[in-house]
Amino acid sequence: MSIEKATSNVMMVTYGKRAHKIHNNPRLHKIYDVVSNFVHVSQPGNFLADAFPILRTLPDCFASWRARAREMHAWEMELWGGFLDEHKKSVMKGDTSRDCFVSAYLRSREEGGHGEAPGLGITEDGWMRDKMLTYTAATILEAGSDTVSSAAQSFVLMMLNHPAVLAKAREEIDAVVGGGRLPNFEDQDHLPYIVACIKETLRRHSPIIMGIPHRSDQDEVYKDYLIPKESTVIGNMWAIHMDPVQYPNPAVFNPDRFYKAGSPTPWGSGPDMQDRDQCVMSPRSKHTH
Ligand code: HEM
Repeated sequence: MSIEKATSNVMMVTYGKRAHKIHNNPRLHKIYDVVSNFVHVSQPGNFLADAFPILRTLPDCFASWRARAREMHAWEMELWGGFLDEHKKSVMKGDTSRDCFVSAYLRSREEGGHGEAPGLGITEDGWMRDKMLTYTAATILEAGSDTVSSAAQSFVLMMLNHPAVLAKAREEIDAVVGGGRLPNFEDQDHLPYIVACIKETLRRHSPIIMGIPHRSDQDEVYKDYLIPKESTVIGNMWAIHMDPVQYPNPAVFNPDRFYKAGSPTPWGSGPDMQDRDQCVMSPRSKHTH
């Protein structure tokens, strides 16, 4: 899947419209410029003020990064703010066809008494104001573009490199879906091998090898380690996926790790760690608790 098609998909989820012009579309290209800039500025160590918050108290004349951040913000808002403005205008003109995250949120916010909520942050009763909504929608577009296209491309590569896996996956698709239609979400529970192939692709060729920085909001102890309150914690996806205890011979692409014939392959999604494969606290983990 090309990155443009992946963006078009998340555009549909977020704003209820596709990017019809895939090639030479300046707005799509700007999304990728913004994503690439985000990847650069969020690298740990690129901005000292991230590591040493005391620096944030410096006045503007000693804080050149702040002027740059303001410029970046204005540049990003031209794009992200433009999407929200256009969306609102078309909804005001009576376009009710858009069944998407932003429409659903604006409808609920209006029912909650905030038809208009300009500005930053959230309302006193917890609704996102426009700028926060703009950035939340933008996060979906940023997060769901190159991740999805790169995962889909790795999936195809893995299938081509492992003909026996491909044959088994094909057999399952033919038996469950047949040749006359595309698979849909209702088929998922009947396609445990396909789901296992997707999970193994995401493990072996994860599009992202390091997570995003998080902050601990209390002291935590893990084994012999103290993680003090307010530490920056970054998950090491690569090490988690290549853990030889959880995944023996981790370099080998083997969907059977996740496959149990006759039962749906569970996804490790949502906040409930019970369902995770790789969380040390999960019953599915092979680590001793
Ligand atoms: C194969 C596709 C994807 C991969 C490999 C992927 C991977 C990741 C990773 C590694 C993180 C950081 C986790 C952390 O350190 O806490 C993340 C965060 C996030 N992803 Fe994805 N992602 C994918 C698709 C998507 C899609 C399609 C969306 C939206 C529709 C999305 C939305 C997000 C959001 C909103 C966050 C931030 C979550 C937070 O603030 O904690 N991702 N993703």
